[in-house]
Amino acid sequence: MSSKRLTVFASGSGSNFKVLHQAALNGEIPASITALVSDKPDCGAVTYARSHGITIYLLTSMEMTASASRLKEILKHEAPDLIILAGYLRKIPDHIVDIYPDRIINIHPSLLPKYGGKGWYGHHVHRAVIENNENESGCTVHYVNKVFDEGPIIAQERVTVNDDDTPESLAKKIQKKEHSLYPKVVRMLLSE
Ligand code: GAR
Repeated sequence: MSSKRLTVFASGSGSNFKVLHQAALNGEIPASITALVSDKPDCGAVTYARSHGITIYLLTSMEMTASASRLKEILKHEAPDLIILAGYLRKIPDHIVDIYPDRIINIHPSLLPKYGGKGWYGHHVHRAVIENNENESGCTVHYVNKVFDEGPIIAQERVTVNDDDTPESLAKKIQKKEHSLYPKVVRMLLSE
């Protein structure tokens, strides 16, 4: 088993988290996912982590943002080579970004810089893409810096938006792209 360590932050259904975990188990990603950080005790990601024996840290928003935060202690203890946001919607506190420069990455369901920033996530993005008659959308993996969704872009995947697409069908197409892109990017970053 690889000695590289990954901490994943997730608060959604956890599909990207599952894909990353499976990729780590089958060797596609040369690392172990040692912990999940979440602020949603009932989310799919937490349920998955629980059933796979992955350490779970549940944090409140206070614990996420206070300057001498528990998050800092957790990350010090976990010593991750990479921190991966996979459906985590809160802003990472600046003091955490300072400690882990270029070691926190996020996936976002649009072609950033379009449809990024506070409040842009999930169906909000897909609905706006369709309302604006965009003919393409996609997903972006980027480094996390102190400005929401504005860190340097690492990789993108594009999808065509068809006339009959709905926010739901677009979400599905993009999710499929995310599931192939994210493990690939993590693998690349760990081999640098
Ligand atoms: C993903 O589509 C990801 O791009 C998005 O949350 C979803 C999580 O899905 N993240 C953001 O919108 C971040 N701003 P999952 O829980 O099935 O992995």
